[in-house]
Amino acid sequence: MGARRAVEIGTLGGYSGVAILRGLAPDGVLDTFEMDPAHARVADESFRRAGFAARARIHIGPALEQLRLVESEGPFDLCFIDADKEGYPAYLDWAARNLRTGGIVIGDNAFLFGQLGETAAASASPGLKAMRAFHERLARGGEFRSTVLPTGEGLAVGVKL
Ligand SMILES: C[S@@+](CC[C@H](N)C(=O)[O-])C[C@H]1O[C@@H](n2cnc3c(N)ncnc32)[C@H](O)[C@@H]1O
Repeated sequence: MGARRAVEIGTLGGYSGVAILRGLAPDGVLDTFEMDPAHARVADESFRRAGFAARARIHIGPALEQLRLVESEGPFDLCFIDADKEGYPAYLDWAARNLRTGGIVIGDNAFLFGQLGETAAASASPGLKAMRAFHERLARGGEFRSTVLPTGEGLAVGVKL
């Protein structure tokens, strides 16, 4: 898709960040968001070793707060969501507002470790309610054309209309 500006929510050690950077245009930049400074330090080293030190920007702190700081640099081409599951609806909302038309949102762990098919409504955890709200908006909100790739974890993908 010729992506040049990507956002990742949930950096951990930089594994998926390096994969995203490898798929961007040669001058593409990744803004990646991580709450834990110790994880961010590992990611920093991963990006440096992979040759992406100049093209990866790690933002440390709660993603919803930090995301606001890059909004003025949008719209973005790609948004990969892979942080706290309760936050998925808010992250999708951010993606809907800050992706370009034709931009792609990707949500990992879309099967919520097997819990997504849980039928007992009373036992729905905050994470399960959030993941269902995420799917509902992605599939039926009218903002994205979407599907879920059947990886072991479930990878939700939406193209912004
Ligand atoms: C599943 S891991 C990310 C894995 C990474 N995307 C990869 O595949 O290599 C989730 C990460 O999100 C971070 N995280 C959780 N809640 C967060 C929040 N509210 N804001 C920013 N980062 C958060 C965690 O500290 C953790 O490092």
